[in-house]
Amino acid sequence: MDAIRIERISKTFANGRQALDEIGLRIEPGEMVALIGASGSGKSTLLRHIAGFTGGDPQPSHIDILGRPIQRNGRIAREVRSIRRDIGVVFQQFNLVNRLSVQTNVLIGALARMPLWRRLSGVFSRAEREGSRAALAEVGIAEHARAISPADNSSAPHWRARSCSTRRSSSPTNPSPRSTRNRRAISSSTTAIRIRTRKR
Ligand SMILES: Nc1ncnc2c1ncn2[C@@H]1O[C@H](COP(=O)(O)OP(=O)(O)OP(=O)(O)O)[C@@H](O)[C@H]1O
Ligand SMILES: [Mg+2]
Repeated sequence: MDAIRIERISKTFANGRQALDEIGLRIEPGEMVALIGASGSGKSTLLRHIAGFTGGDPQPSHIDILGRPIQRNGRIAREVRSIRRDIGVVFQQFNLVNRLSVQTNVLIGALARMPLWRRLSGVFSRAEREGSRAALAEVGIAEHARAISPADNSSAPHWRARSCSTRRSSSPTNPSPRSTRNRRAISSSTTAIRIRTRKR
């Protein structure tokens, strides 16, 4: 089964700009792939389609994540939220919460999988805390776990903390964009996507 399978995705924005033209792509589990292209060539747009933030043009097309359709013929699947739990998205703006520790920022990535009462109370299980420590150790910043995120979170540890967060969960912390201006800002800021293929 492919981790990502894309068939004939096209995207034309309301202003007539065509960003994607019948894109097809297959990525196997465990593959690490770089998407390279000139500025404005449609990289972020494609990543946003893979994550199910944007639907393609209404024509025969589909994107499957681990065999589950996240969009088909330009329509986002109803179970998009559950599929997104296996997709980590790293944005250029890290969306880390200042004033919270690096470890808590990682744990926030687990919120999508937690029952409502624990989400509201912010109580993380031992397994979640251990998982977050393991993720930080994996990217070499375990010693920064208790550090408070400074206002400037453009440093390497913060980039790595953000990538840990997407490993453990996946609903990106991005808000639903309302205005076109916001949509464009977010569309240009997607830098990486990770599909979780290992079982939790
Ligand atoms: N919401 C939108 N409405 C209209 N046009 C858009 C919108 N979002 C992106 N575009 C246009 O679609 C094209 C592809 O944009 P995209 O952001 O995907 O490019 P990119 O390859 O990620 O570029 P960069 O390397 O600069 O990040 C660009 O011409 C961009 O201006
Ligand atoms: Mg981009």
